[in-house]
Amino acid sequence: MPTYDQDIIRLLQEKSYKKVWTFAGGKGGTGKTAMTANIGIALATMGYHIILVDADLGGANLHTILNIKRPKLTLSDFINRRVESLYDVLLNTPSENLRLISGGSEMVGLANIPYQSKVRLQKHLERLDADYILLDLGAGTNYNTLDFFVLSNEGFVVCNPEPTAKINAYSFLKSVVYRLIEREFKKGTRINEIIVNEGKNNQNGSLAIPELLRRIYKVDPISTTRINRRLLRFRPKLIMNKLRRFSQEKEGVQLAQLTEKYLGIAMHYSGMVRDDPHVVDSSEHMMPFVLQFPGCGASKDIYKIIGELGIEDRLGRFDANRSRRLGRYIKSERRYWYH
Ligand SMILES: Nc1ncnc2c1ncn2[C@@H]1O[C@H](COP(=O)(O)OP(=O)(O)O)[C@@H](O)[C@H]1O
Ligand SMILES: [Mg+2]
Repeated sequence: MPTYDQDIIRLLQEKSYKKVWTFAGGKGGTGKTAMTANIGIALATMGYHIILVDADLGGANLHTILNIKRPKLTLSDFINRRVESLYDVLLNTPSENLRLISGGSEMVGLANIPYQSKVRLQKHLERLDADYILLDLGAGTNYNTLDFFVLSNEGFVVCNPEPTAKINAYSFLKSVVYRLIEREFKKGTRINEIIVNEGKNNQNGSLAIPELLRRIYKVDPISTTRINRRLLRFRPKLIMNKLRRFSQEKEGVQLAQLTEKYLGIAMHYSGMVRDDPHVVDSSEHMMPFVLQFPGCGASKDIYKIIGELGIEDRLGRFDANRSRRLGRYIKSERRYWYH
């Protein structure tokens, strides 16, 4: 929560350029790709210009879900500077409002992308002409994934109700927070050393952020303010996927509470998508479920999440929560995808 006027003003002044949304979560199989693709397509059916980017360096498969042949030029060609611009690797899809930047199979080899290349990627993403740009990230907590996640302050953590998924999501966020605050101070400075040695690599397991901040405060109170300001801008969101009972939503709320308490960040709970056999059915048909089964539970949940994010149908044709009229528009969109 912002405490001072100057912090609130800063939030209001933040560039409100097109939104870059990243999807990650620590564990494989939680549904990051499914959420990226289906939220993206749902937004496209609502009249927004969407670009999906497959930034899963370990196993790019977004094009498969969309039933699009792997193209010659991919994100790795941009990262390796074989092409000048992201426009060179941008693909059309059957949907007029949706474009794709596919991930390359050789991206696995991009073990440690130089920081400069990540800055270049961010600049080029900001230049793309779209309302929302959604990045599907890989599992794990390697530096590439952490840095891609914070290309935007609007990252989504996709989690499941199982304890291992929650633990992975928590560790992922912890690594992100440490990466963020470590980067605020040059290597070799006293504060950077405290963050790395006493905080991140503490022999008893990494320190909770509020405790780390107390220690830093004793050395240099101004640095604490700087860290707090950085964390304030970071506003991750949580999606709980594959819920089998509505009561499992509390697992998500608990994760958000623990994150606030121990990592000092306010994670917004954006909602849930139920475990729904239509999701697997549609992936067998290589068809996004919001298009193939617009009336299924998981599709309704996707539109509900979008509605709760405050996004409305651009042309005012329907309310994201009133799915009957919505279904009609989606069916008309579907024509383009079935040949
Ligand atoms: N809500 C859901 N209900 C049922 N199956 C799901 C759901 N979300 C994802 N899946 C399935 O789980 C598997 C992993 O999903 P995927 O999106 O590939 O995960 P990730 O990208 O996180 O590794 C896929 O087979 C997908 O169809
Ligand atoms: Mg995936």
